[in-house]
Amino acid sequence: MRLAIYPGSFDPITNGHLNLVERSLHIADRLIIAIAHNVKKTSLFSVEERIDLISQSIPEAHRDRVSVDAFDGLLMDFVKDQEAHMVVRGLRAISDFEYEFQMAHMNKRLYGDCETIFMMTGEEHFYVSSNLVREIARFDGNLSGLVPPHVELALKDKYSS
Ligand code: PNS
Repeated sequence: MRLAIYPGSFDPITNGHLNLVERSLHIADRLIIAIAHNVKKTSLFSVEERIDLISQSIPEAHRDRVSVDAFDGLLMDFVKDQEAHMVVRGLRAISDFEYEFQMAHMNKRLYGDCETIFMMTGEEHFYVSSNLVREIARFDGNLSGLVPPHVELALKDKYSS
């Protein structure tokens, strides 16, 4: 059974993330979407809200193969706890590469039995990021096609309150 971990902030989940979830299921039997409590970033959505938004985004057909979890501390400790050996990450553009390259090597050093698998983000999503999505939402811009409809509603709710 090939188990993969898809870690990230997911603040909030976008259609770009969901494209990666879908494609990860071609190489893994089970996928855990793992939300990091990132101390460096202040998040818009709480971890509980993010778990809820992600869970609602998983298509019915994949629900038995995909779960959502959150972790504190090092990703590699979470990966070991789950007895996983594969992490998946999306690469949107060259600008992602340096950070991802550094992180993958550092993670390899921390836990040699884990491989990081990179997937190029689908061409229709390569410019989509949670940061930009939040900014568009803050100024009441059009989010259709960038995030699932329930995420769009949750963003509108956040910025109207
Ligand atoms: O979606 P993001 O914010 O680019 O995801 C980054 C994430 C959460 C994968 C990364 O910050 C992470 O793994 N954080 C957990 C702490 C950790 O293990 N840090 C050392 C990485 S070498």
